[in-house]
Amino acid sequence: MNILNDKRLLLCASFVGGRAAADIGTDHGFLPAHLIVNDICDRCIAADINPLPLEQARNTVKEYALEDKVTLVLSDGLHEVDLSGVSDIVIAGMGGELISKIISECDLLFSVDNAYSLILQPMTRPWALREYLYSAGFEIEEEKCVREGRFIYSVIKAHFIGKAPSYHDDERYRYFGRIDLDDETGSAYAADRVGKLRSAAEGMIESPDSREQGEKQMQIVSKLTEILKF
Ligand SMILES: C[S@@+](CC[C@H](N)C(=O)[O-])C[C@H]1O[C@@H](n2cnc3c(N)ncnc32)[C@H](O)[C@@H]1O
Repeated sequence: MNILNDKRLLLCASFVGGRAAADIGTDHGFLPAHLIVNDICDRCIAADINPLPLEQARNTVKEYALEDKVTLVLSDGLHEVDLSGVSDIVIAGMGGELISKIISECDLLFSVDNAYSLILQPMTRPWALREYLYSAGFEIEEEKCVREGRFIYSVIKAHFIGKAPSYHDDERYRYFGRIDLDDETGSAYAADRVGKLRSAAEGMIESPDSREQGEKQMQIVSKLTEILKF
């Protein structure tokens, strides 16, 4: 059944590999409903920090008669979420720093033996999330992009390995992630990132207070432009 008509959330859903998922910041609860109705999961947790979105999720759960399969939880990040039996954790539609904070505050995620699959979709500052994941010992096993209207989003699938991943925490990793630059949407995402970084750097260079920072950022832009050429 077609509950999701949002390609970004559909890509998140396609990364779910286990039978029980927790959607943190669920808002309307469409993702958990989609996972159950399409037999991707047997049960889901739909969590949100705000009561109003959780009420919207409650309506979705009622509409599709999923009361026995979707548990609604009012929770700041994963604090109130019981992860017993959960395989996949989706955190989508938030800033890269907030996603990093939510991960960092949940000790259970830092286990190699019981590594949860994290499906992450940063709306802003994706490089901050990638930097955090690398430094905290999470490996990105897959990253794909999707175009939705005027925007291109990246979705990350990561799990804890307890050490630095085999790739490097360099400019390519931070700004282009692990996306395939040979893929049309992937290369469009990368070009879009470089364009935004360049505009920001140009703006910084205009002002004496931020000129030095702008010039440093322009060096990163040059490196990334070189990578895109190959
Ligand atoms: C922009 S919506 C994204 C909804 C959906 N995940 C998506 O990607 O379309 C962000 C949601 O995250 C919730 N949220 C923000 N901070 C949160 C936190 N610390 N813990 C749980 N939910 C949070 C908000 O209340 C809101 O419903």
